[in-house]
Amino acid sequence: MLELLYEGKAKKVYQTEKEDELILSYKDDATAFNGKKKAQFVGKGRFNNLITAHVFRYLTTEGIPHHFIETLNDTDQRVYKTTIIPMEVVVRNRSSYSLNNRLGIKEDTIFSPPLVEWFYKNDTLNDPLINDQHVFLLTDVTKEELNQMYNQTLQINDALKRFFHQIDLDLIDFKIEFGRNSRGEIILSDEISPDTCRLEDIHTKHHLDKDVFRQGTGNLLDVYQIILSRLEEL
Ligand code: C5P
Repeated sequence: MLELLYEGKAKKVYQTEKEDELILSYKDDATAFNGKKKAQFVGKGRFNNLITAHVFRYLTTEGIPHHFIETLNDTDQRVYKTTIIPMEVVVRNRSSYSLNNRLGIKEDTIFSPPLVEWFYKNDTLNDPLINDQHVFLLTDVTKEELNQMYNQTLQINDALKRFFHQIDLDLIDFKIEFGRNSRGEIILSDEISPDTCRLEDIHTKHHLDKDVFRQGTGNLLDVYQIILSRLEEL
């Protein structure tokens, strides 16, 4: 029996026999608006596990360091152990309704260069937006490291835009997380899936992402299946 280290909203994290490796087990639970809206979609865990694996394998070819090692089965993947930095990095290539609600910026405004935002990863506080100085107060990240994370985030954005374009999707925005590995290096961690990205079909302009659940505009499993099928056809 593997030791359960942590259970989050979308994944369980297990310690493996190897000290510096973990297993991420993707759950079928969907949450939105910081857990206020909840549902279960049988098969969602499989989609996010397999789609995330495709994304990270592509990032390897782009020379981006990350935690992913391999998929083990439909719902589980092996990753290098990192201590997650309690900070969500959001990149916006285009504005969505959420930025309109927060700052009154019109939906579909293009950001070039992309807008990069830091949020404090804290459910009780509702993941508030923070600035660089808050990052230094709330995490162990140094100024140089934050700079590195910012530059790497822009590289990841470019790589992800190319990746999703291969399957006719426009990357509107996404959230990533970084973690510190056993050597003290900060590397891209967590998942990259339609749960964590806004993706628009370049032809139909339909959203193929968790917004269909957040906004009740479509069937989550159907749209995640479309993404996986397109990736498997590449
Ligand atoms: O809601 P908001 O517009 O701030 O989300 C920006 C991007 O970050 C979206 O792609 C969303 O799916 C993702 N996100 C996430 N987890 C969060 C907050 C946002 O994956 N806790």
